Amino acid sequence: MVAKIAVLAGSTRKGSFNGRLAALGAERLRAHGAEVTEIDLRDYDLPIYCQDTESDAFPAAALALKSVLRAQQGLLIATPEHNGSISSLLKNAIDWASRPTDGESPVALSAYRGKVAAIMSASVSPFGGLRALIQLRQTLGTVQLLLLPEQVSVPFADRAFDAEGKFAEPLPATLLDQMTARLARTAEALSG
Ligand SMILES: Cc1cc2nc3c(=O)[nH]c(=O)nc-3n(C[C@H](O)[C@H](O)[C@H](O)COP(=O)(O)O)c2cc1C
Repeated sequence: MVAKIAVLAGSTRKGSFNGRLAALGAERLRAHGAEVTEIDLRDYDLPIYCQDTESDAFPAAALALKSVLRAQQGLLIATPEHNGSISSLLKNAIDWASRPTDGESPVALSAYRGKVAAIMSASVSPFGGLRALIQLRQTLGTVQLLLLPEQVSVPFADRAFDAEGKFAEPLPATLLDQMTARLARTAEALSG
């Protein structure tokens, strides 16, 4: 079966480096045979998570995001590093989609459980957002995703991409290709 994999960036900035990284990841996943859904968090008007908001009426955007994630076997995420952690935009999206709906148990985690994820980051700093990746790995493990050991971090992101949005150097392209190949194969195995 063809693996369904969602790709998303934790930044909605115009010209986002993580957006570029996510686009390159989506392109490689397609090359490795996956059916890719590119999620643009601009399309989901998610309020900042609050349990009262959830109890009053589960936001339609959160429901829509969760339903897209539920349909996947895999997930590829590119996160910026904000003050040593993942962006609040990304954490908020992960949190909303972790919430139970349709009478599910509070720990059903149906958007994530039993699926596989791979993580990436791009930062203008020399460290490439590595601290954010450590935290993203922890959060995604908490919501019961299986995490690939590979990850891609792109330092000096303002110089890492050429005018067409491709990598300026060969190494990150190789690492991304290897990681997306493994993600596609693992997601395919999980899809039965
Ligand atoms: C609030 C804020 C905090 C930041 N903190 C860090 C940081 O801790 N480490 C880092 O490498 N870059 C940090 N940066 C710089 C981001 O890596 C840089 O803005 C990057 O371009 C964001 O990703 P994007 O291009 O996908 O939007 C920070 C930027 C902002 C706006």
